[in-house]
Amino acid sequence: MIYPIVKFGDPVLEQRGATVTEFDTPELHKLLEDMFESMYVSKGVGLAAPQIGISRRIAVIDISVGEDPAQKLVLINPEIVHSEGKLVTEEGCLSVPGFREPVKRSAVVTVRAQNAVGKTFEVTGEELLARALQHETDHLNGKLYLSHLSVLKRDIIRRRIRRLQKEGEWK
Ligand code: NI
Repeated sequence: MIYPIVKFGDPVLEQRGATVTEFDTPELHKLLEDMFESMYVSKGVGLAAPQIGISRRIAVIDISVGEDPAQKLVLINPEIVHSEGKLVTEEGCLSVPGFREPVKRSAVVTVRAQNAVGKTFEVTGEELLARALQHETDHLNGKLYLSHLSVLKRDIIRRRIRRLQKEGEWK
């Protein structure tokens, strides 16, 4: 099933997701499958459950956008346990379509998470993967990439979105 993506303005995007305590259930496997499918349709490299209206600490990442199954990553209850360096590159979000801004992030991060059966693992990423790991973990903490921008930039984007909402172009 392909879920519609929740957009900026929906309070679910600004809530901390609930910790997952049940693993390896048919419901969880189906949700993960649907999240990958919904992400690929939107050509995203990452998707967090709050972005489909589900406030739980679950995210999926695939920096190959469906080209390489080995790149598929399921992150449940992820925490960043190590970060190094700084890097500024352009970033966007499926929940904030049409906008891209330079964001300063750690250059290398290690995330500790659980997989679909509840096994704890660690993954270290750099470049695009490091960015996706930070971006998706933020989502599960109720944080959008906009919160990393200057107040001025953020206000400009907010105003543009408000105008789109008024015109009915932001659904
Ligand atoms: Ni996002």
